[in-house]
Amino acid sequence: MDELIFKIVGAIQAAIDAREPMAAGRSNRVAEYAVRIGKALGFKPEHLEKLRLAALLQDVGKIGIPDAILSKPGPLTEEEVKIIRKHVVLSEKYLSEVKELKEILPWIAHHHERWDGRGYPSGIKGEEIPLEARVLSVADSLEAMTANRIYRKAIPWPKVRKILKDGAGKQWDPRIVDVALKIFKRPIETGMPSSPEEAQMLEQIRMESSLAQWRLLVLYEIANIIRNSSDFEEIITRSLITLHDNMGYEYLGIFVMNEVGNFIPFAVLGVELEGEAVVHTDDPDKLSDKIVKAMRKKAPDVAKEIVIPINSGNRVVGAIYIGKNDDQPFDPDDIRFFETTASYLSSLLWFTPSVSFRPILIEPSTGLYHFSSIAYRIKMRERFSAVYIRIFGLNDVATRYGEGISRIVRREFVGEMKRSITRDDILASISKDELVLVSEKSPKELEKFMKWFKKHTSGMSVKVGVDMLPLPDFKYGIVEFRPSDEESPDFNELIALAKEKAQA
Ligand SMILES: [Fe+2]
Repeated sequence: MDELIFKIVGAIQAAIDAREPMAAGRSNRVAEYAVRIGKALGFKPEHLEKLRLAALLQDVGKIGIPDAILSKPGPLTEEEVKIIRKHVVLSEKYLSEVKELKEILPWIAHHHERWDGRGYPSGIKGEEIPLEARVLSVADSLEAMTANRIYRKAIPWPKVRKILKDGAGKQWDPRIVDVALKIFKRPIETGMPSSPEEAQMLEQIRMESSLAQWRLLVLYEIANIIRNSSDFEEIITRSLITLHDNMGYEYLGIFVMNEVGNFIPFAVLGVELEGEAVVHTDDPDKLSDKIVKAMRKKAPDVAKEIVIPINSGNRVVGAIYIGKNDDQPFDPDDIRFFETTASYLSSLLWFTPSVSFRPILIEPSTGLYHFSSIAYRIKMRERFSAVYIRIFGLNDVATRYGEGISRIVRREFVGEMKRSITRDDILASISKDELVLVSEKSPKELEKFMKWFKKHTSGMSVKVGVDMLPLPDFKYGIVEFRPSDEESPDFNELIALAKEKAQA
């Protein structure tokens, strides 16, 4: 099981999570149940690792099932059930392309068979069903019963145990049910192991395979970003977003040396900062202290941070700043990972921002540019239109469900908009409730687009536990800008104008 496989798994999980944000983590929990059952059945570590992969991949075929059916908030018709059942065959089909997965294919192909032969797709029974598929079936059901779903809350644990007992010899292999009842004294919440030995074993499996492979996957992605773009800004911002999404650190920044030898923040994620974070130093040894000092001013809740220099030859030309809110020491493997990233980026740092350069600020939750950092870039355009968008109802969501959920709803809204705009359009964030869309389109075309978008999102909702929250409603105002025109107001005034229009 190597690199390639984990790349595939990573990509697939990302795809599934993107599609069903509220179900994210489901396959991990199924895997956790499966691995623990496997261990109790005496599977060796390598066997367990394969079983874990199978659990993570078994439902990949759902990617091929239409959203309208998959997320349908109500009972399914017979025809729809048939279509959903196809996911097993689709999983098998997609994965059959990967020869390294040959061994686990039958486990995946039969994860919905039943001990009594009344399952699908083949209707085989008892020990005709591969042992691993029988484990997956119990693991899958355990997860499904113990997690909150769109239409119902989790089934109480004593009832789950009773359902398992009643289904032994009918739906499930009675021996596996016995094992499961013995080892699961309570449902798995977040994949927390039930004993220290188990914790150690699971940790080891993860550390040795997935984590190392995960870092490789991220590096591979960054290498791809560098390879596929010639635009420095795009490379740096996309790399930062990739690092942020995958490495779990709250603050990231890239500093670049400018023409007079100062280090200026080029792109920063997680904090708003102005020009004062520019670092003056002739002594590379002091670089780290100075960058940390500059960042701390803006992010006082950072508990631990490091600065990794970016070298070109034996000269320091830039630095990566990484900060986090907990005070655990940095994982040495993560530090090595960032050093490799720095060496990837060093080949790019021919760019020397001017003294007046303003850093690109990126909003961590959506990957959107912050409005203040794109204004000057926009001014270089000949002529464009801008839409000011005011989103409603996020505060109510925050009051009822908490800030986290309100962020998810906002991210979904922004995501839908990002998917709908064209490549040259720029979407930026002003505040929690305000966005700006800058486009080459004419005001008339933009008006048409916004009308469409309103209609398009009006029936959409986000799954939050047992509830479906509608995507928020919004108002907007459109303005046109001609920077070459002397009479034209400046960009900020223009946005104020669009805001007035939105409120009218
Ligand atoms: Fe399934």
